[in-house]
Amino acid sequence: MTQRPYVVDEMISAKSIAARIEELSREIQNDFSETDKLVVVGLLRGSFVFIADLVRELDMPVEVDFLEASSYGNATESSREVRILKDLRGPIEGRDVLLVEDIVDTGHTLNHVIHLLESRGPARLRTIALLDKPSRREVDIRADWIGFEIPDEFVVGYGIDFAQRNRNLPFIGKVRFED
Ligand code: PRP
Ligand code: MN
Ligand code: MG
Repeated sequence: MTQRPYVVDEMISAKSIAARIEELSREIQNDFSETDKLVVVGLLRGSFVFIADLVRELDMPVEVDFLEASSYGNATESSREVRILKDLRGPIEGRDVLLVEDIVDTGHTLNHVIHLLESRGPARLRTIALLDKPSRREVDIRADWIGFEIPDEFVVGYGIDFAQRNRNLPFIGKVRFED
C-alpha cells in the first residue's frame, strides 16, 4: 500500500507533555498513597512512550506490565473489534492497577480492556490516557485522568502511529495531507 504524502504539524510540544505528566503523576501518587506496590499496565503499542515517562515521575513502588490490544490495524478507522494479542505477565487479583493508554477515541479499546481487567478482581483499577477525543466516542467511557482533550484530528507521535509510522516523534502532531 502506498501512503498518500502528508506532513506533521506540531500540536502538543514535548515540553507541554512533560509538564502535564508531572502534574498527573502527583495526582496519581496522592490517589494511590496507601498502595504498597502499584501495577502500572501499558497498552501496547501506543502507550510505550507515555508509560516510560509516567513511571519515571512516580515516586512510589511500581511494577510495570504490558497488554497488547489492537483495533485499528493499519487503517485510520477503528474496526470496533478489539483483539487481545498479548496478555499480562502477572496476576492482578487484589492489586491496585493503573491502566495506561495513549489515546481514547471511540472508546472501544479502553472499554474492552477495563472489562477484561475487572474480571480478574483487582483491588482498584484506575485509568489514564494522555489524549482524549470525546467527539469520536461510541462507548460511554472516560479515563480517570486525561492529559489533554483534543479535537477530531488525526494525531501521531509520542507513541502514536499512522500506519505504524511516526511513533518516535517526541511531540504530538497532527497529520496534514498534501494534495
Ligand atoms: C489505538 C490507540 C488506542 C486505540 C484508541 O491503538 O493506541 O489504543 O487505538 O481507539 P479506540 O478508542 O477507538 O478504541 P491501535 O489499536 O491502533 O494499536 P497500537 O496502540 O498498537 O497503535
Ligand atoms: Mn493503542
Ligand atoms: Mg495504532
